Amino acid sequence: MSKQPFIPHELPPEKLNWQALVPFIGQANAAIARYDGLLQSLINPNVLLSPITTNEAVLSSRIEGTQASLGEVLEHDAGLDNDKSPAINEDIKEIGNYRMALSMAEAELKHRQLSLNFIKSLHAILMDSVRGQNKQPGKFRNEQNWIGKKGTPIESARFIPPSPLILQEHLEAWETFILREDYHDPLVQLAIIHAQFEILHPFMDGNGRIGRLLIPLFLYAKKCLSRPMFYLSEYLETHRERYYDGLLSITEENNWQGWIEYFLQAVVQQSDTNMHKAKGILTLYETLKDSFISTTHSQFAVPALDAFFKKPIINTADFIQVSGIPNKVTASELLRKLTKSNHIKVLRQGSGRRPTIYALPDLLNITEGKKIL
Ligand SMILES: Nc1ncnc2c1ncn2[C@@H]1O[C@H](COP(=O)(O)OP(=O)(O)O)[C@@H](O)[C@H]1O
Ligand SMILES: [Mg+2]
Repeated sequence: MSKQPFIPHELPPEKLNWQALVPFIGQANAAIARYDGLLQSLINPNVLLSPITTNEAVLSSRIEGTQASLGEVLEHDAGLDNDKSPAINEDIKEIGNYRMALSMAEAELKHRQLSLNFIKSLHAILMDSVRGQNKQPGKFRNEQNWIGKKGTPIESARFIPPSPLILQEHLEAWETFILREDYHDPLVQLAIIHAQFEILHPFMDGNGRIGRLLIPLFLYAKKCLSRPMFYLSEYLETHRERYYDGLLSITEENNWQGWIEYFLQAVVQQSDTNMHKAKGILTLYETLKDSFISTTHSQFAVPALDAFFKKPIINTADFIQVSGIPNKVTASELLRKLTKSNHIKVLRQGSGRRPTIYALPDLLNITEGKKIL
């Protein structure tokens, strides 16, 4: 018999072995608390963690196949488009939308709940004018969908999400669960919320990305984080097979337990990676602050550094605008000194009306976790 659309489990799942979860819960909560301690100590997390946020958008999109790299996205932002393929330009558009959805969400969550309507508005931003027809931005599906390799017919699907006829009632139950304040543990609640969202697969596309956006947003809404800046996509991208198998084992074997354990240990590992990166970025910022000041002897040394953190690849015009340096001569002189001292690098020499494009290689390398420039 061929596969049938899945009938979702009621929430929360029953018969969890809480005893076995205790060590995972303890470690994961401690890891998030440590990470949030660091977040709270940052004076300007938006500036410092801006590249990490961009990288999250890149990696979450890459899980389901976009190819564009962090470097390419930042180059594009700076107006450097050395003949990228149309597919890469589409990727870059999707990644830009993901960043936009994330920043809209942070602002909105100050006065809104994580409701279904809110999630639809996120989806509308994520799917705004991107490739593929019939994506129905901002709308829950009214068709049957399925998960499988591109082009596979429904008969050989890996998983068939619930019928659109029962989708709405399960979404409402999911919303009730997400808004619950009295569940045993917020991280277990989050593990369940993410998986059930993927299982319901309520949108025609973008379910993976919306489900991963929910991770920082939920932690922020539940006050586990002071800013919605904890991202899991790097871990899920590197362990994609286990991520997909974990989801499949919920629907095939009712294995919520295994999924929750996997998710909690992913949180621990990713917290450590994030801590390491955030600390590296912080140290870099402090070091560069001193050397930007001693190299330029300018009152604009720190605004110049901040501009490079906000846009690690930047053209002259944006540099002047973002740093707030009042005139072009001062800005050019600063850029010249910083280039000569090897703090920044010229990616493309300006000519005619094309501006020069600069990069801050150390920051890009820390964010990617490897030397890219
Ligand atoms: N067996 C499965 N059951 C439920 N969800 C799954 C399964 N396998 C993968 N997924 C989820 O489906 C997502 C892909 O769905 P899709 O709507 O194309 O999202 P996106 O376009 O954002 O990548 C994956 O990223 C993953 O989160
Ligand atoms: Mg997709």
